[in-house]
Amino acid sequence: MKMNNFMQRFILLVMVSGIFSVLTTTAQNARIKIDVDRQIGEINKNLFGNFVEHLGRCVYGGIYEPDSPLSDDKGIRLDVLDAVKELNVPLTRYPGGNFVSNYHWKDGIGPKDQRQTRMELAWARLETNQFGTDEFVEYARRIGTDPYLAVNLGTGTIEEAQQWVEYCNVKEGPYYAELRKKYGHPEPYNIKYWSLGNEMDGFWQMGHLNAEDYSKKAREAAKLMRLTDPSIKLVAAGASNFRPNNDPHEWNATVLSELKDVVDYIALHMYVGNHQDNYYNFVSSPLVLEERTKVVKGMILREMEKADRGDRDPIYIAWDEYNIWYRWRAEETMTGDRALEERYNLEDALVIAGFLNAFIRNADIVKMANMAQLVNVIAPIFAEKDGMFKQTIYYPLQLFANNMFGTSLDVFVDCEAYDTDEFYLGLAEQATQQNNVPYLDVSAAYNKGEVVVCVINRHKDNTIETDIISQEGLFDGEFEVYEINGPDIKAENDFDKTNVQTVQKESVKVKKTADFSYSFPPHSFTMLKGKIVK
Ligand code: AHR
Repeated sequence: MKMNNFMQRFILLVMVSGIFSVLTTTAQNARIKIDVDRQIGEINKNLFGNFVEHLGRCVYGGIYEPDSPLSDDKGIRLDVLDAVKELNVPLTRYPGGNFVSNYHWKDGIGPKDQRQTRMELAWARLETNQFGTDEFVEYARRIGTDPYLAVNLGTGTIEEAQQWVEYCNVKEGPYYAELRKKYGHPEPYNIKYWSLGNEMDGFWQMGHLNAEDYSKKAREAAKLMRLTDPSIKLVAAGASNFRPNNDPHEWNATVLSELKDVVDYIALHMYVGNHQDNYYNFVSSPLVLEERTKVVKGMILREMEKADRGDRDPIYIAWDEYNIWYRWRAEETMTGDRALEERYNLEDALVIAGFLNAFIRNADIVKMANMAQLVNVIAPIFAEKDGMFKQTIYYPLQLFANNMFGTSLDVFVDCEAYDTDEFYLGLAEQATQQNNVPYLDVSAAYNKGEVVVCVINRHKDNTIETDIISQEGLFDGEFEVYEINGPDIKAENDFDKTNVQTVQKESVKVKKTADFSYSFPPHSFTMLKGKIVK
């Protein structure tokens, strides 16, 4: 059949517009400007901390499993230990969590056959106390982490808190220091970080208090603990939950005002979930953490004007617990031996990368953050009797903890953005809504002439072609490229499959140039690492 001119032109137009629409739905353009002179603050290594709680199979069946052929003679799971070591964990919080508010540390020391089994009320288990302070400190030394202990300000007393510091940090003389020596640990543990209770604002906490009563108890505990060891750093329990009709900042305001001369950090907690199964809402949730960081920073600055802290640093923020936790939230998955065994996918890994980017962008005020938790329980490492695997969220944490050092840079990003619907971050949380969420989420670190740029492409479908521009100095040499991605946003890992992991891509070679371009693939996290020469 012969086509007339009109038909030919019509078909051509359809083809061209088809090609155009393919182009416009698969590529966007963006700019990232790096200026090594625009510095936010020193990146504290403790931003990549973790958390071990006596909950489900985190301790028993996670890091410690004496009857396993995969464990050594101390009961430590060696396959898990190796995976933990690669996370380069600088700081590990222990022993809870909600667990600590009814935990008496003396139950967990001394000859194992004389330790008592107790009812564990927070997570409805039996606590055998076979793993306690001495085992944890030894584990911490093996993985190269600083131990960070939480004291019981729920059912515990301020005296008990003082005696724990004495047991851990006093070299010799008093009863509890001598007891540690008697139990085979002649040298003090010198534990620097101590938190004054856990989520004491929560009605679920055993021994829950109001903000005024908590502050009084925390201040007195701090007094006794510091008289025992003046060098310790103390973390106050900030607000844990943003419930409808509840202003968590009232709690934070009281605690900061009452403890402004006393504590070194205020602890904040945040758990998010994809409750409505809406990818774009979910991946924006780290921006809410960033907003809360800024609000609390303002409150700290206000209190610091009135504080009497001698030569001590101002109070900093510790994002003491953060993660994704929503699937294992039903009553039967919240308690017992297999509680909180969340399995993670690619979109979860992107949210974790978003949290880490937010910590770096706020490195002047956020000086500690602990992923909750290390193994099995809402964790990057998942173990069963005969093996373990690395969950998707393992990979961003590993990349940050091994590469993001030095100074955080204030990066300029110009890219397309979207608005979310109203959505719920967490089960009990009030609703939120985010406007202007940039598809590219970026942070950068500068360290001795080397720049590391972390980029999340939140777009589900589009590659984003990006000009990366240096404002001060020139990019030079090979830029290493590491990418975390997977076949689709719901891709998970398991014992027999690794769909999501870090892949080292071909390096970008540049020669004394002020800019280069890079295409960030859809639903990906990319780390670029190279030199800037002046
Ligand atoms: O990490 C799980 C729990 O979440 C912790 O025990 C508690 O502090 C928080 O509510």
